[in-house]
Amino acid sequence: MLQQKNLWVLLALINTLGLVGFNHLCHAEGEAHRILLDTDVDTDDVFALFYLLKLNRSRFGLEAVTVNTNSWTDAGHGVSQIYDILYMMGRDDVSVGMGGEGGIAEDGRIFPDVGGFLPIVEQGKTTAGGCRYRQAIPAGPRGRLDLDSNYGLRRALLPQGGRKYSPLQQPTAQQVLTEKISAGPITVLITGAHTNIGVFLMNNPHLKNNIEHIYVMGGAVRSDGNLFADLYSNPYAEFNIFADPFAAYQICF
Ligand SMILES: *[C@@H]1O[C@H](CO)[C@@H](O)[C@H](O)[C@H]1NC(C)=O
Repeated sequence: MLQQKNLWVLLALINTLGLVGFNHLCHAEGEAHRILLDTDVDTDDVFALFYLLKLNRSRFGLEAVTVNTNSWTDAGHGVSQIYDILYMMGRDDVSVGMGGEGGIAEDGRIFPDVGGFLPIVEQGKTTAGGCRYRQAIPAGPRGRLDLDSNYGLRRALLPQGGRKYSPLQQPTAQQVLTEKISAGPITVLITGAHTNIGVFLMNNPHLKNNIEHIYVMGGAVRSDGNLFADLYSNPYAEFNIFADPFAAYQICF
């Protein structure tokens, strides 16, 4: 999620392999970079997806989209919007995974795959006054539907193809991440909270080296934050990091 005109978005390049930048990726000549996008399906994410889909496929191959449902959007709406965009762009080949909540039980078990809206660690009532994770998402005039549907994008504009969200049948983000990351070197772009990738890394440390780079939209420098549901109680935090700081930690360190 990106909102707020004055927000400086820190596009952090995180080098999981200690390599330094795109130019140094060791790809055979002519081989496309494999790309996975993890998104919370806000308007900025939709633009990012369109840009990715417009790139030269023989150089940049988007293979999968995983939807982060722990912030901003709810599963069915988010997944169906992504399916319809992919259909419109002739890309029904791109896998879509429905992201789950993290959630760590008292005994340390990680719940990777249930779908929902909790960050990995429940923040409880301890910080940030009235603005905690779910409360950080502002409702529109028609409640959450405005955000979930990007104010009617799908209904008003998108042609609908054969793929649709179906509860309990939708591949999960963790399934899609495991399949795509196991298959070989891949670059991950995160434009929402980091829960899906955080949970993936915690459960699959052996697959970490297949992730060449993780690009993150998160953090704000020299600007106010963007928790505009309650800027008064927390004027500094940036939404994607705030929505699951533990997951962000898993990715950054
Ligand atoms: C796409 O990239 C390939 C490989 O670099 C190149 O040969 C081709 O001309 C490009 N296509 C377009 C439309 O730019």
